Amino acid sequence: MSIRDTVISAFQKEFGSRPHVLVRAPGRVNLIGEHTDYNEGFVLPMAIDRTTWIALRPRTDEQVRLHSLAHGETMTFSLSALTKNHRHWAEYAKGVAWALQQAGHRLCGWEGVVGSDVPIGAGLASSASFELAVARAFAAVSQLPWDPVGMARLCQRAENQWVGVNCGIMDQTIAAAGKAGHALLIDCRSLDLQPVPLPTGCKVVVMDTATRHGLVNSEYNQRRAECEAVARQFGVRALRDLTPQQLPANVSRRARHVVTEIDRTLRAAQTRDPVEFGRLMNASHDSLRDDFEVTNKELNIMVECARAIRGCYGARMTGAGFGGCAVALVAASAADEFVHRVAETYAARSGLTPKIYICTPSDGASVEPLR
Ligand code: GLA
Repeated sequence: MSIRDTVISAFQKEFGSRPHVLVRAPGRVNLIGEHTDYNEGFVLPMAIDRTTWIALRPRTDEQVRLHSLAHGETMTFSLSALTKNHRHWAEYAKGVAWALQQAGHRLCGWEGVVGSDVPIGAGLASSASFELAVARAFAAVSQLPWDPVGMARLCQRAENQWVGVNCGIMDQTIAAAGKAGHALLIDCRSLDLQPVPLPTGCKVVVMDTATRHGLVNSEYNQRRAECEAVARQFGVRALRDLTPQQLPANVSRRARHVVTEIDRTLRAAQTRDPVEFGRLMNASHDSLRDDFEVTNKELNIMVECARAIRGCYGARMTGAGFGGCAVALVAASAADEFVHRVAETYAARSGLTPKIYICTPSDGASVEPLR
């Protein structure tokens, strides 16, 4: 059964009626533009066909009651008395409620069931997808206007200030505003969005290394702080304000990554040529490996395996790094064979069993018909 149908039937079991509303929000894979969002640069992610679904109905009181299929647990909280509960899955939902109320929205309560096939902690933005699904649910029951970029900002605020993860704006924006068949060029300063068709004749393949890094948060915050320090040294608001030509030969490697990555991202958004796009992805990975130092051994192995297979135009790590997923651009005609071969060669070299997904670019958060 699909996750969509699973949440609907679980709702019936849990709450004894058909749900009134069905919402979804996707995970994402970033094609290029890594660790550039918090430097106010450009990113080029696409929403994927792995999705968080919530089946729900409004309540007449201020309670939110949410059952998670992944955790086999039901959580209740009151919109008028939100309190933090460290490291619990429901904090993302509470954080979104908090951020929406802080922004002046009057929220109604609801009850629902959440299920997702976005793998947790794999670098495919499972938390942003959960946040945007919750925001979509609140907007539906509370009759709020749906402004994808505004909602993305509020969900980022929930994650920064309620959950306590200092992420940039990429994941929430793509989960809110993704376009089927397209990647999205996001200007992380202005939040201008530009849909970009995928390079001609290509598939996007996500490759989960089956490794996770416990220190992603602290390493991430450290990289952010390093970038901000260099921007201060140069007297600019953010590294976005520097061009590759302005960098002195002895510039910090962290800044070199960010500034060259922003340049690569803009070039990638302008080409439909898969060879050129793949070359930019390869250069991105090498820069993340050597200059930004956010890959791990398994990400490097996965990328090497991918690049060696026929039909692969380019491959790189994706997301925050330190483990999780890599992404490859592959000729559509070679994609099925690629999936098989990369799983085999990676397993042989790493001793791990990867998960490989061919992904389709999907729409951002939406309310879906209940057939
Ligand atoms: C995580 C963060 C994003 C972005 C990426 C790195 O996914 O949530 O904001 O910084 O890492 O590009």
